[in-house]
This record gives sequence, C-alpha cells and structure tokens, in this order.
Amino acid sequence: TDYTLSVDPSAKGPAIDDTMYGVFYEDINRAADGGLYAELVQNRSFEYDPADHSSYTPLTAWTGAAAGGGTGEAKVVDDDGRLNERNRRYLRLTLDGTGGSAARYGVTNSGYTTGMAIKAGERYDFSVWARTDQASGTPLTIGLGDGSGSDTLARPLRATVRGDRWTKYTGTLTATTSSSAGRLTVAAGGSGTLRLDMVSLFPRDTYKHRPNGLRKDLAEKIAALKPGFLRFPGGCLVNTGSHEAYEAPNWPRKRSYQWKDTVGPVEQRAVNSNFWGYNQSYGIGYYEYFQFAEDIGAMALPVVPALVTGCGQNKATDDPALLKRHIQDTLDLVEFANGPVTSTWGKKRAQMGHPKPFGLTHLEVGNEENLPDEFFARFTEFRKAIESEYPDITVISNSGPDDSGQTFDRAWALNRAAGVDMVDEHYYNSPQWFLENNQRYDTYDRSGPKVFLGEYASQDNKWHNALTEAAFMTGLERNADVVKLASYAPLLAHEKATQWRPDMIWFNNSASWGSTSYETQKLFMNNVGDRVVPSKASATPAPSEPISGAVGLSTWATSAAYDDVKVTAADGSTLLSDDFSGDDAKWTKATGTGSWTVQDGAYVQSDAAAENTMVTAGDPAWRDYDLKVKATKKSG
Ligand code: AHR
Repeated sequence: TDYTLSVDPSAKGPAIDDTMYGVFYEDINRAADGGLYAELVQNRSFEYDPADHSSYTPLTAWTGAAAGGGTGEAKVVDDDGRLNERNRRYLRLTLDGTGGSAARYGVTNSGYTTGMAIKAGERYDFSVWARTDQASGTPLTIGLGDGSGSDTLARPLRATVRGDRWTKYTGTLTATTSSSAGRLTVAAGGSGTLRLDMVSLFPRDTYKHRPNGLRKDLAEKIAALKPGFLRFPGGCLVNTGSHEAYEAPNWPRKRSYQWKDTVGPVEQRAVNSNFWGYNQSYGIGYYEYFQFAEDIGAMALPVVPALVTGCGQNKATDDPALLKRHIQDTLDLVEFANGPVTSTWGKKRAQMGHPKPFGLTHLEVGNEENLPDEFFARFTEFRKAIESEYPDITVISNSGPDDSGQTFDRAWALNRAAGVDMVDEHYYNSPQWFLENNQRYDTYDRSGPKVFLGEYASQDNKWHNALTEAAFMTGLERNADVVKLASYAPLLAHEKATQWRPDMIWFNNSASWGSTSYETQKLFMNNVGDRVVPSKASATPAPSEPISGAVGLSTWATSAAYDDVKVTAADGSTLLSDDFSGDDAKWTKATGTGSWTVQDGAYVQSDAAAENTMVTAGDPAWRDYDLKVKATKKSG
C-alpha cells in the first residue's frame, strides 16, 4: 500500500515552548545519596536507623579498623555531646592507648553498594567534625584503601584534633591507584575519647566544580539532554509519610519532603527516611536543585506536599494548623527562590552562595493523590495563598496516579471547574498503549487547564519502548497548545539499588549509560521546534503482526474480578503468583482477561506502596524468558 503524507508549510500549528520537554528527578533507585550527590561516604553522620530500612544500624557501612597494635571501642551515641540538635548521633572512639606511637584505632567506611570509585590522579576532599578530651591533642590518620587491609590508594593524610569543641578538619587525598572498591579509614592514636561526626569525602572534580557538588558524569548526562525544566524532588517521596516538622528529640523519621529540612549547612540538615526504603541525607537539597537547574539551563519546578498522601497511603491530614504551616512554608519557598537578599529566606539563599534570585515561575502542589476531593480542598488553600502573594507563579495541580478512571475524571472535573492553570498527569503503560494513544490530547478542551505530563514511560528499556515513546511524543508535540510540559520518569537508577524500572539513565559507582529512552528524550529535547507544521496521512498502516518487544499487560486486574494470577517462565518455573487472599491490594495491577503468552517481555507490578516491587522481563537475568501469564476469573 502507498501512503501519502501531506504537509502544508504555510499552515500554522501551535507554538512549541522551549520548556516543553524536561526531566523529572526523584531520589529513587539511589538517585541522590550514592548517585547524583557526589559524597562517597555512606552514613557519614551515623544517623542510619532501622526505621529507614530493617537492615540498617547507626554503623551501617562502617567497620572497626586497627593498625600497629591499637585497640579501642567505636560506638555511636546520642547524648549531650552531639554536634547539633539536628545531627544528634555521633561516633565516640574510646582509645585504649595500646601499641606504639604508630598504633591506630578507628573506623572504615565502605561507601555505597560496591565501594568508592577512586581514580588514580584525582583529588579527593576529606572533611570531618571532631573533638578530643586529650589536652595534647589526638593524632588522626586518614587513608584510602581497597579493602585489602592497607591504605594502598593514596598517601595517607595526617592531622591532629585539638580541643574539646566541635571543629571541622579538612584535607585532600590524591589517589595514586584506581579502584572500584575504595574504602576510607579514619583512625586515631593515643588514648582517651575522640568524637567524630560528618565524615565526608568528595571528588574534587564535581559538576562545575561546585563544593558539596554533583557527580560529574551523571550531571553531564542530564545536562546533555538540554532539558527545558527540572521537576524535583519527587514523586512519592514528596507526599508520603508524616507531615509533621522535624522537632528534636522525637522527630518523625518518615516525614514528607519538607524543603526547609534540606537547606543550610549540610551538618545542620535533618536526615529522613526515604519512601523508597533507604535513608536520605539531604546533602543534595533545595539549594542544590535550584543551582543544578540553573547550571543546565532548565526551569526549576519544585513539588511540595499537599497534605494528602498518595502512592497507596491514601490519607488526608485533617489539621488546619499543620496545613497553614505548610502553606506558609510554600510561600517561604518562593521567597527563598526569588526574594531579595534583604528578605528572611532570600538572605538564606544569599548566605548559601546565590544572592541572585533563582527566578522560580512554576510550582506544583501534590503528587498522585488518590483522594481527589480531599486533595482539591487543600490544593485550593495553597493556590489561593500563593496566587494572592505571588500572582505570577503558575500553580500546578494533580490528576491522581492513572491515565483515566474515576479518580482521574473527578480530579480533572474539579480542576477544570476551578479554572486551574495546569494539571499534572502520570502514566506508566505498555508500548502498545503508547502507540494506541497517540491521539490522546487531540480532543482535550483547548480552553481548560493545560497539561503537565509529569511522569510517563513505556514499560521496559528496549529499543521498541523508546520508539513507541517517540511516536507518542509526536502526539504531545502536535498538541503543544494543550500539553505544555512533559517528562519521562524515573530519571536515574543505580543498577545495584533499583526499586523501579524502566529508567532513563542507569549507573553504577564508576560508570553511567543512557537507556534507549534516554536517546529518544535527547533527540526531542535537543531539537525542540518553534511551531507545529500540520500534516495529514492518507491512512495509518495497520500492524501486520504483533509488535515485538514488551507487549505488556494492558488490562489491569482487580481482586474483585480474579481468583488467581500466575506468571511463569518458558521453562515452566513460577516467577510470581498470587491467590488474592488476604492481601488484595498486592495485585491491583497484575494482569488482564483470560490467559495468554507474552511474546517478549512483560511488566508485572505489585502495589508500589505495599511492596515497592517491580518485575520486568527486561531485567538482565530475565531477558530471555517468554512469560506466561494466567489469570483465573472469578466465577459469577
Ligand atoms: O517515578 C516513580 C514513581 O511513580 C513516582 O514516585 C510516583 O509519582 C509515581 O507513582
């Protein structure tokens, strides 16, 4: 069959904003600590806790280290000797004074996942806060090793801690040997009590050489996209957990992401548990995100919690005083970003190194709320307050977690009726869905709220997925008068610490690589047009055979409709099964009608909040499986 594409260059379609394609950054898959944040020491302030993850202790990533006959005790304590009220635990080294003058006792940090990536010839900036009860001081040796027992990667640093007041000590290690399993040892000589906190090691060569900076290869990969905007800091990590503030000493560990926790000197930032199952140091916080957005020429687009938890938690906080405080915090955030240096929060920004305003123009309230009415009531309060004080800020609302359905329709109806500027949509669907929904926005109301497609991806990282995303993006672009912003999600994933896939950029401790979807995004972001030129095809070719690649399971099951679900590999082994008894939430997005064989790749998701588990046939270990998915329909 011949197909004809007619293009009329003189016809004018909608204008395309330069900011149309951007990135969505969330600290998932170790995107921040152990990822974009260049800090090499894990658990640097000894604040890890079983509340973050059941395997954690305050000494996670640390082990005792001794040399030359030195002995002692390394213990994490939380007492009046602490560094400050927001950094409560510290390491107390009790030194026995055994061995000669070269004897040392201390601790070794193994870094994130597989160890610190150390490159010969590179410089590494070390710092530690310390105090000693020894009048003559306590000698410190700081070494870089590879786990073999001695400091083989750099000439050790030496320092003497003096005085029983917390003081910051700094120094630089130059690596002589490379290793992907680097370890940092801090050890002391003599006797008495030495207190240590905020043990830190940064490569000197961070992105744009910023102190407390970002890992260069990852930041450069994001910058190479030329994103129009940077949505941050999440996602589910923003709006889940308690909305209470940090308040010593009994502070809630699982707090929603509250921007004031994340600014100021790093040693004064309160840590938090991350929704994705680990600790977040907030070493990369709001200031660093604004700075990064500016560095890569992207519009900063922060998301604040709306006091209705989404992501499976489905709880509306009913506390007017708390709501008022969060609204005030949001107004303060605008002041932090845009206020003059004479304002309270503008001054804070200036003190952190950026007297010039960041120029915030857009702000999102909430993320994927499942309770549209409760969300909208609170959103309305935020919107009223922000628009009355900052009428130029675009306040972005939400439509829940799905591309359609009751919650989605209700949220849209509320947003439309109230004349909201822009509504965020999220969906993760099969590649087939992306092909079939190219025309999704052709029929959207031109006079209603604009669309921010804040999160989307087709469910795998194969070439076929990238192609279907590209096809879908032509539909976004054709509707650039309605779809104003769009970002693939998630952005980053550590290959050894993955909660969610597919992802755009993958990395380990020493390398990073873009997925096929990264290439699609880069292509679109690097070539944003000015205006759509309308075109017309004589017909749309029908696919002659099932598409290869991840076909996906396009109709989701509910426990109300199914008794059993089973996913088996080609060799007959069971990969996943569920009888829907007792834990109905678990398989709400598991399978479709009847039973069938998925050609090449499938995507099975258990409920994110309950389990945070995802399984795809694209996992390296699974790549060659044909999956069989069987669902037994409930009788009657
Ligand atoms: O992008 C991963 C998660 O997907 C986000 O945290 C959340 O908003 C969505 O459910």
